[in-house]
Amino acid sequence: MRALVVYDTKFGNTEKVARAIAAALGPEVRAARAETISPEEIEGLDLLVVGSPTQAWSASRPTKVFLSGLPRGALSGVRAAAFDTGFTSRFSGSAAKKIERALRQRGCTIVAPATRFFVKGTEGPLLEGELDRAAAWANQILEGAERRSGR
Ligand SMILES: Cc1cc2nc3c(=O)[nH]c(=O)nc-3n(C[C@H](O)[C@H](O)[C@H](O)COP(=O)(O)O)c2cc1C
Repeated sequence: MRALVVYDTKFGNTEKVARAIAAALGPEVRAARAETISPEEIEGLDLLVVGSPTQAWSASRPTKVFLSGLPRGALSGVRAAAFDTGFTSRFSGSAAKKIERALRQRGCTIVAPATRFFVKGTEGPLLEGELDRAAAWANQILEGAERRSGR
């Protein structure tokens, strides 16, 4: 399975979550910053995970630029999942929901629910246990992806 975890980060917290997810998905799975991804790297993927810090109730600008650079239908049939980091407040919004919608619009099949990972303050750190929760979510993605491929 060719999988890629694409993330943006300002203070490093989303990057930590992205790396924990990539490690749990498999030894060959890479996590890469959205700004560094070329369209060729997206071609032929089986699984795409996209994560962003929540900023102003939405995804960060580099995440939005990455998503809008993916033509509609470009990811037809690619299995995908979205996550974000942010505050626990119920007024904090969710970048993940918006990323998930964009991935769907581009033809992805969502295999695990959009998920949030929490930070204590703007610069972090992550709440205790969040990297374990990230690994568990990655396993949920793998199960969902296998179910969708009929294996
Ligand atoms: C400009 C800005 C706006 C933010 N807006 C929100 C927000 O609307 N909701 C939220 O939960 N967190 C918000 N945060 C907190 C970020 O989500 C937090 O900084 C992020 O999870 C840290 O991840 P990073 O280290 O990968 O950048 C904001 C942070 C910044 C810098």
